[in-house]
Amino acid sequence: MKTIAGTMRWGTWGANLDDSGFAKMITGCLELGIDTFDNADIYGGHTTETGFGGGWRAAGVDRSEIKIITKCGIKMQSDIFPYSIKQYDTTFEYIESSVNRSLRELQTDYIDQVLIHRPSPLMDMEDLAHTFKEIEGSGKVRSFGVSNFTPYQIDILAELYPLAANQIEISVVNHNAFTDDSLILSAANGLEIQAWSPLAGGALWSANSTSEQNRIDRLQKVADRYEWALDQMAYLFLFHHHIGIRPVTGTSKLNRIETVINCEQQQITDQQWFEIYEASRGHEVA
Ligand SMILES: NC(=O)c1ccc[n+]([C@@H]2O[C@H](COP(=O)([O-])OP(=O)(O)OC[C@H]3O[C@@H](n4cnc5c(N)ncnc54)[C@H](OP(=O)(O)O)[C@@H]3O)[C@@H](O)[C@H]2O)c1
Repeated sequence: MKTIAGTMRWGTWGANLDDSGFAKMITGCLELGIDTFDNADIYGGHTTETGFGGGWRAAGVDRSEIKIITKCGIKMQSDIFPYSIKQYDTTFEYIESSVNRSLRELQTDYIDQVLIHRPSPLMDMEDLAHTFKEIEGSGKVRSFGVSNFTPYQIDILAELYPLAANQIEISVVNHNAFTDDSLILSAANGLEIQAWSPLAGGALWSANSTSEQNRIDRLQKVADRYEWALDQMAYLFLFHHHIGIRPVTGTSKLNRIETVINCEQQQITDQQWFEIYEASRGHEVA
């Protein structure tokens, strides 16, 4: 199953689920065939990992049934961590302490994959590769990857450490990854592509400006032409790429997660892909 269930909106940044709500989502995803869950230390102001940890325990699933991704590297102010400024930190000390906290909150003795959430302007690639090797060697983390790195940063870091994944924003609204070499350089270096905000964070249904509304209207016309729902069309747009993009869903509604699962089995043509692309951009390709 390509689809990954994202938890960013399951806790206090969205649905405000309690442990039993997390448990229902986890069990429901597993029943649909999704076994991989995307977390981050900062979600819910450093509380969502705690909810997920309580949730999978309450669900009574075996640890081997689920794969846990989490992210670190952003020092974000919250009630739990009242930092004086938001900043990035990719030092060994910080990443190690963050991984240790995630292990505790997620109630697990290993994490399947840890991603560096954002590239720091101050990061030292050699240090970062060393950090990954040390922590992977300890058995606490099974693989490392990156998120929101530039294609060039990925290319350099992948030379120093076998990165497993690249999590970037890709959708019918934010499609730069198709043309900025992110996909090709990630694939060439053996990284899988995970697409965050595959429905543009809900922007397919709510516009903040006339131009955004015009884009929704154009996309809706294509969707109507083929009798697709908008979310269905957005997922089909991602699944069509031969590299094998893995969408990280944002919904906290199981019926909406079912939509993406169904899309994994559906095909569109190159022409239909370009119709969606043109509708999003508002003009044909050059
Ligand atoms: N690496 C990073 O920097 C990064 C950044 C952001 C997110 N992420 C990851 O990516 C995941 C997904 O991001 P996202 O939450 O922005 O994803 P998304 O799927 O693009 O957006 C989710 C939003 O769209 C709404 N939605 C979904 N289907 C809908 C429909 N049919 N009609 C109307 N609204 C609909 C959802 O509401 P309902 O809940 O009501 O369905 C939710 O508010 C996150 O959980 C997180 O794991 C990573």
